[in-house]
Amino acid sequence: MKRSLIRRFRKIVGPERCLHSPEDLYAYSHDCYARGNPELVLLPRTREEVSSILKLAHKEGIPVTPRGAATSLSGMTTPVRGGIVLAMNQMNRILEVSTEDRLAVVEPGVVTLRLHQTVESVGLFYPPDPASYSISFIGGNVATNAGGPRCLKYGVTRDYLLGLEVVLADGEVLRTGSRAVKDVTGYDLTRLMCGSEGTLGVITQVTVRLIPKPETKRTILTTYRTLEEASEMVSRIIGAGILPTTLEFMDQAYLRTVEEIMHLGLPTEAAAMLLIEVDGFEETVERQARIVEDFCRRFHVLDVAVGRDPEESDRLWIGRRIGTVGLMRSSKFMISHDATVPTSQIPRLVTETHRLAAEYGIKLVILGHAGDGNMHPIFLLDPDNEEEMARFHRLSREMFRITVECGGTLSGEHGIGLEKRPFLNLQVDAVGMRTMRAIKKALDPKGILNPGKFLDEEPTSPGR
Ligand code: LAC
Ligand code: ZN
Repeated sequence: MKRSLIRRFRKIVGPERCLHSPEDLYAYSHDCYARGNPELVLLPRTREEVSSILKLAHKEGIPVTPRGAATSLSGMTTPVRGGIVLAMNQMNRILEVSTEDRLAVVEPGVVTLRLHQTVESVGLFYPPDPASYSISFIGGNVATNAGGPRCLKYGVTRDYLLGLEVVLADGEVLRTGSRAVKDVTGYDLTRLMCGSEGTLGVITQVTVRLIPKPETKRTILTTYRTLEEASEMVSRIIGAGILPTTLEFMDQAYLRTVEEIMHLGLPTEAAAMLLIEVDGFEETVERQARIVEDFCRRFHVLDVAVGRDPEESDRLWIGRRIGTVGLMRSSKFMISHDATVPTSQIPRLVTETHRLAAEYGIKLVILGHAGDGNMHPIFLLDPDNEEEMARFHRLSREMFRITVECGGTLSGEHGIGLEKRPFLNLQVDAVGMRTMRAIKKALDPKGILNPGKFLDEEPTSPGR
């Protein structure tokens, strides 16, 4: 990028929030999956600054990659075509929490956990809880339509959006939705933007719907002798019309790897474990927990234990919530897929994925938000071993083919980004791609927003 152009961008945000030292560029170059080299990092504080940046970038044809906390696991926020990283860290104000209208208005850089804590302090609840919620930003959650364990009962990020403020590629400001719970005026542009992975606009304000905070919760931990019994139990519970808040699946390989590193006292003798949580009023939570417990005991469980109070529940959750961090420490590189299938197909997906991992000789652990069919086959790899990465690619294609054959989807919550771009045609046909590209063309005719990602004709190979 020419010096004169850098000067013009610097003028918009001021020298402190315009970064281009090699260290700063490196810090904003990657997520867990891939790396790209930005030429400039800008940290806007207002919608007007975002708009001015995009007006200039649009005029000059400079790529702009919006970035939240970069907790994406799919290379979504990596600037693979250079240009500007638009880091939303400093737009981090909670502008309003209304108990009467049960909504909150926030800027995109608010950490999800901070939103949780703020609304819970006034008796309200924002359910979406991606695993990264203690560091992820709400703007990124919207851009990826993030899910999480509690989404089984409560739905995903898009189900809590009332409206958005989005700066479009040419710098114009689009306002979608309203403050009303019901709103059918025109196309649902809020949902179009949600999950668009930074390719259609830059989110500068989010209005979320809130619900009353559940009074209490209870966790039920059940273990199984075989993988099949555990995965069959998931579809049995859902099939019986029981709706827990969460229904998490962890296989033995996961339990053992995490236990080895973190010493949490996980049941490593079990082939798999289900962590089930119910929430609501004290009276109904007791009853729901009993129903789940009795139901589990009727089938082939190894053990069932009910957490007595919320603190004990929280302890049971540690193994699930921070276990993936342990996994990252146990290998050079980790890829967490989020293949999602109808719950009746979980036994098939789990069995076939294990079969493929053995056949291709790749180390695999499986966990997942099994209650909604959102599985996380996690592969432990060596990115410097090209032959292994090629084998892994073939395995992934095979696994995604089976997923789609099961009536499922490539991604339940992590998005396509760079990572799943090579497999998109397994699920989206030519008409689907044409429709998506027509929308992209209409909103970003010069293709400056997050280029090189899932809409590109040619997949981009990820830098590391
Ligand atoms: C999780 C991430 C991988 O659920 O989505 O831990
Ligand atoms: Zn997840």
